[in-house]
Amino acid sequence: MSLIAAARAVRENAHAPYSKFKVGAALTAASGAVYVGCNVENVAYPEGTCAEAGAIAAMVAAGDTAIKEIAVIADSPKPVSPCGGCRQKIAEFAEGDVKVTLATIDGIVHETTIAALLPGSFDADYMSRV
Ligand code: THU
Repeated sequence: MSLIAAARAVRENAHAPYSKFKVGAALTAASGAVYVGCNVENVAYPEGTCAEAGAIAAMVAAGDTAIKEIAVIADSPKPVSPCGGCRQKIAEFAEGDVKVTLATIDGIVHETTIAALLPGSFDADYMSRV
């Protein structure tokens, strides 16, 4: 199954009764394993979590530590764009050249990289004097 197909499938499980905007994410980790996540909203709105965060949490819980590729899909007019927080979460586990595939359920696909999505990112180098 392709990453987009995996993201499309898990999107069906999203818990999005408030925004009605279901998102699915799937990533391939360094081990080759695929991890998936969907957005999980909460009646206390700020407690909701994004699809990307779910996939990353599943990866880390399983013992993988590096993202090799990630895909995100939603029912949007153009390929869904990860929020700023999710860009930082992806960057924690991905080299800059990691491919990020953004897609709509209608089949529009945009391929980019995490470096392009999060230029000038804060990373551990800034803390080298600590
Ligand atoms: N959302 C994601 O899960 N990932 C994204 O990349 C964009 C936004 C979710 C958060 C919230 O549950 C809903 O989409 C509307 O913002």
